[in-house]
Amino acid sequence: MESLRARLCSKNEGKLRELRAALPGWQIELLDADDYPPETGDTYYENARGKAVFGRSLAPDVWTIGEDSGIEVMGLGGRPGVHSARFGGDDPVGRLLAELDGVDDRRARYVCELVALSPEGVEHRGTGTLDGRIVDDPRGSEGFGYDPIFVPDGEQRTVAELGNEWKRTNSHRARATAVLVTRVPAAARPGRSDEPTPTS
Ligand code: IMP
Repeated sequence: MESLRARLCSKNEGKLRELRAALPGWQIELLDADDYPPETGDTYYENARGKAVFGRSLAPDVWTIGEDSGIEVMGLGGRPGVHSARFGGDDPVGRLLAELDGVDDRRARYVCELVALSPEGVEHRGTGTLDGRIVDDPRGSEGFGYDPIFVPDGEQRTVAELGNEWKRTNSHRARATAVLVTRVPAAARPGRSDEPTPTS
């Protein structure tokens, strides 16, 4: 079977790199668009779906993938959460560390919501999380966003130190992708056309 062509409805090269690594056999490109609708949803799902629907209006012949993600910090009551992309302007890491000054509860989690729309418009969804904690000083150079200050549970190094190869199988995005793939009908999975299509 030919590889499955998809557009990731995002401008984020880091997300593209991670989704390509997590979805071998899918041929994913960034959607070529400047005028994304604003992320006004109350949930990651609403925002992810909005991006996928927007992408489908521009690229109706291929799969479109909407992705929304964020970081939830327990000591900040779960903020910035769904508003992560608009948090902290040019220095979101600095802003987060400043808000956590004097806060004891540094537990945090990353959340990723994926919505994939087939060329026929059928929706498939996958959610993934990664639990960890926020450290005081940024360390490491890989990944993006808050990765230099996020240490996953069971690890001593930040995600930026653990690196892109670690993220390929362990990140919230990789976990959401693993769920999404199980929901895509077998007949549509690249290289898996011999499997029966699940009935439920
Ligand atoms: P959005 O999904 O484009 O709305 O942005 C989500 C925000 O959460 C981004 O600005 C990132 O800073 C942050 N974020 C999401 N996923 C990750 C990740 O894997 N590492 C670090 N930061 C992330």
